[in-house]
Amino acid sequence: MQRRPRRNRQSAAIRSLAQETHVTANDLILPLFLLEGTNQKSEVASMPGIFRLSLDLMLKEIESCLKLGIKAFDVFPVVEETYKDQMATRSYDENFFYLQALTTIKREFPEALIITDVAMDPYSSDGHDGIVRDGEIINDETLDVLGKMALAQAATGIDMIGPSDMMDGRVGYLRDILDDAGYSQVGIMSYTAKYASAFYGPFRDALDSAPKFGDKKTYQMNPANRSEALIEAELDYIEGADVLMVKPALAYLDIIADLKANYDLPIAAYNVSGEYAMIKAAGEKGWLDADRARDESLMAIKRAGADMILTYFAKEYLADRQV
Ligand code: PBG
Repeated sequence: MQRRPRRNRQSAAIRSLAQETHVTANDLILPLFLLEGTNQKSEVASMPGIFRLSLDLMLKEIESCLKLGIKAFDVFPVVEETYKDQMATRSYDENFFYLQALTTIKREFPEALIITDVAMDPYSSDGHDGIVRDGEIINDETLDVLGKMALAQAATGIDMIGPSDMMDGRVGYLRDILDDAGYSQVGIMSYTAKYASAFYGPFRDALDSAPKFGDKKTYQMNPANRSEALIEAELDYIEGADVLMVKPALAYLDIIADLKANYDLPIAAYNVSGEYAMIKAAGEKGWLDADRARDESLMAIKRAGADMILTYFAKEYLADRQV
């Protein structure tokens, strides 16, 4: 035998030298769930170890994450039912706690990259990402609401918006609106290939944002489709997206690899709530080693081509690597 691949696996030293992929703090973005009020903290039942936090506690959390090397945070609001309406008007009310909190977060931690979510669902009494009329999601009128939301978020000083709604044309629409208002420095991390997935369940529990009727299949992508992700990517590219995201991550590694191969923009992958819950639940049952499954998952997402990974595991992954 001339070739013995096992030689490069025979010691920890050669294995580490030959290792092709490394996941570090530079790859990770931590999603956070914001509660109104002070000194409020509640664990998401389906996401052990993940807490909804009020601003005061979130500031402490961000501070400890920055110490671990996490540089970027994606903040989602938990909106009380009484604040929700059909047009998601709280989403652009500058006095609303989410927008107020973003201003404080940026003031306290100017060096942290703060990403916001642009979509109607947390603020919508219908629980959908767009305006609902006669049971249908109205694309173009929704853009108007998303534009107001994006502007209100940009005004807080955040660094990047994350349109997660999957309306057609929203990236270009939001880019124009931001530029016209003088926010050309605000980036767009587009949820480019966002699939209609079963893996968002725990997130919808966290925000209490599940659709009140029907599903999201008329706007989120069919999990069966691969080429269609390239259409979405092409549009987002032309429309001015700064980062292209694939979501979920683990069941969509082929899509991550496709976008990485076809576009020079940074590719993000969202290791979603259900992917977190799955590993935690099996770990709690003793059916697999959750920490190793976590590390292997993050590695696989990076190996597939993701330049950045949104993951609820970010903090514990890095904490486990501190000496
Ligand atoms: C909503 C949104 C969702 C997620 C991020 N933004 C849920 C959905 O589309 O229903 C899911 C994130 C996760 O599951 O971790 N626009």
